[in-house]
Amino acid sequence: MASYDVIVIGSGPGGYVAAIRCAQLGLKTACVEGRETLGGTCLNVGCIPSKALLHATHMLHEAEHNFAAMGLKGKSPSVDWKQMQAYKAETIGANTKGIEFLFKKNKIDWIKGWASIPEAGRVKVGDDVHEAKNIIVASGSEPASLPGVEVDEKIVVTSTGALELGKIPKKMVVIGAGVIGLEMGSVYARLGSEVTVVEYLDAITPGMDAEVQRSFQKILTKQGLKFIMGAAVQKTETTKSKAKVHYKLRKDDSEHVLDADTVLLATGRKPYTDGLGLGDLGVEISERGQIKTDAQWQTNIKGIYAIGDAIAGPMLAHKAEDEGMACAEVLAGKHGHVNYGVIPGVIYTHPEVANLGATEEELKKDGRAYKVGKFSFMGNGRAKANFAADGFVKILADKDSDRILGAHIIGPMAGDLIHEICVAMEFGASAQDLALTCHAHPTYSEAVREAALACGDGAIHA
Ligand code: NAI
Repeated sequence: MASYDVIVIGSGPGGYVAAIRCAQLGLKTACVEGRETLGGTCLNVGCIPSKALLHATHMLHEAEHNFAAMGLKGKSPSVDWKQMQAYKAETIGANTKGIEFLFKKNKIDWIKGWASIPEAGRVKVGDDVHEAKNIIVASGSEPASLPGVEVDEKIVVTSTGALELGKIPKKMVVIGAGVIGLEMGSVYARLGSEVTVVEYLDAITPGMDAEVQRSFQKILTKQGLKFIMGAAVQKTETTKSKAKVHYKLRKDDSEHVLDADTVLLATGRKPYTDGLGLGDLGVEISERGQIKTDAQWQTNIKGIYAIGDAIAGPMLAHKAEDEGMACAEVLAGKHGHVNYGVIPGVIYTHPEVANLGATEEELKKDGRAYKVGKFSFMGNGRAKANFAADGFVKILADKDSDRILGAHIIGPMAGDLIHEICVAMEFGASAQDLALTCHAHPTYSEAVREAALACGDGAIHA
């Protein structure tokens, strides 16, 4: 029986980061992973492969729409779907091998197989039982199902199947206008599919700032995505190669049907804890299937911790990573901490969308006195030169103290731009602190400074 200080179950961004930090802090560490490769959903069938497809198809979009205007003449590139899939596979491979290398470098044992926890202090993988002073469950999440919609990962797919369709569909119906639906919907729209998104609510991307939601939907519509809002999908029917999607409009209960070659089900994800034996152990689970933990990520069973998508909070790789690092520090006797108020969310469409902290709607609901500083990328020289002037930066600050309370960006590189505001918020900065910071010209980041200026005496280029 091998004996460890820590065994981490799952090697996604939460698990592998926790394992590396545990090892760096001097703890004898193993990580159990049942997939062929390390990296979990994010690296194998999520964040990384989808970004490869988003990048390739964005290049195609640029060639088709903007090259001629920049004086780059000639035939637009044609799509070699097989090669695009190979590029995606290579990207995955480079990343998963990178983690294998980091495990070796940090002397972390990769225990191959699926784990269960027969009792606190023991992890069973196949016929082997390993001993661990502490266990971190980082088992992630899986697509949530929708009654009446049977997934076969060929015609009716989740995000996993959507990454490796046999061919580019002529007609695609996306169920759910959330992050996955819009990212993958964008990929296929750029590849020439007729994409229709069916959304239950009246706005896309639930929980986002309403102004961003409206602007985002307009931009995506301009890019060719069709939206059917306020529509509840009832069921799908499939034949050998096609599907029908039945939905009901909430406003009048009228029933409609859409034809599709591919249906993408993207109505959320749920914690994945199957086979771990948590029920028999008496680990408390919430009504939503999330493992309950205290503020230091320990479950109600001493020595069993949980992080990432399997517990409460946004299902984001970087939130899991932060919890992984902090949990490792707790196990090493240090003070691990995650600031849940400063976790950015990013949608990697073009333009990108990034959100942080409070939305205007939340501030109104809380009765907070706030001010808004907004700046359009139309006033940003770099964005105009790059045909990327769609969108804006919006900063929300406390009306009296000027402290930044939230930020919402739709525009080029929004996912990168948001981070200077993350740092500012971590330091409790005011909008004026950002506004007084010199920003290089010409960069997209000037739009962030201008929005901060707009919280005070006004933006310069507005
Ligand atoms: P989501 O929760 O973002 O969106 C699901 C959408 O489906 C909602 O708008 C909901 O109203 C709608 N819906 C639910 N039932 C419906 C029905 N019967 N008919 C029509 N619409 C319906 O879920 P999504 O996009 O599946 O993503 C899952 C998780 O993965 C999220 O937590 C997301 O944050 C995470 N993720 C994050 C990414 C990123 O950070 N870029 C990328 C991909 C996933």
